[in-house]
Amino acid sequence: MSPETHPNLVVFDHPLIQHKMAYLRDVSTSHRPFRALLYQIAGLMVFEVTRSFPTSVARVQTPLEVIDARRITAKITVVPVLRAGLCMAEGILEMMPEARVGHLGLSRDEQTLRPVVYLRKLPHDLNAGPVVLVDPMLATGGSAIQALTILKEAGATDLRMICLVAAPEGVQHLASAHPDVRIYSAALDRQLNERGFILPGLGDAGDRMYGTV
Ligand code: PRP
Repeated sequence: MSPETHPNLVVFDHPLIQHKMAYLRDVSTSHRPFRALLYQIAGLMVFEVTRSFPTSVARVQTPLEVIDARRITAKITVVPVLRAGLCMAEGILEMMPEARVGHLGLSRDEQTLRPVVYLRKLPHDLNAGPVVLVDPMLATGGSAIQALTILKEAGATDLRMICLVAAPEGVQHLASAHPDVRIYSAALDRQLNERGFILPGLGDAGDRMYGTV
């Protein structure tokens, strides 16, 4: 499956992002630079992910005249999936410091590959603006589907997901379950292995990020 074959998927074919992804994938990159790279790549991706955010007109006095400028006035919510989404969320918040943060704790059962929810802490008015779900890995898609279902049940109506590495299986699975959600990924990888790991991938992002490999 190429990025062109799926209308809901945006893959970042940008030299700076691909350059940083090459270091991120490298098995010799330790947890400290790994976290920095996640943070930086997420910050770069924000530019495109926020393209559809609504703006409203605001009168602004420049030093020379008054103009109609545009501002994002809706309440933005960034929702990292723990643990792996945390560093990316920080990079996104660097660009959008006014955003609220919701947390979803999901862990993938390595036997069944099904997600288990262990934490859910969200703003009460998720429908007040765009919501960005953040998780570096889209493998089987089970975690993202569960997370998006929780966000919709909590009222979110304007959703998108940002990840670093997506597997074709996960993209298809997610697109069938939530066809309204656009997926932004730094890379579309080849496939999943029998344990549900993305190939070539970058290993377990949560473990590499926190040195728990
Ligand atoms: C990883 C990853 C996603 C999920 C992806 O989390 O960060 O949340 O697995 O897999 P899926 O698409 O097949 O559901 P993990 O369970 O390893 O938890 P962690 O972030 O705490 O390491």
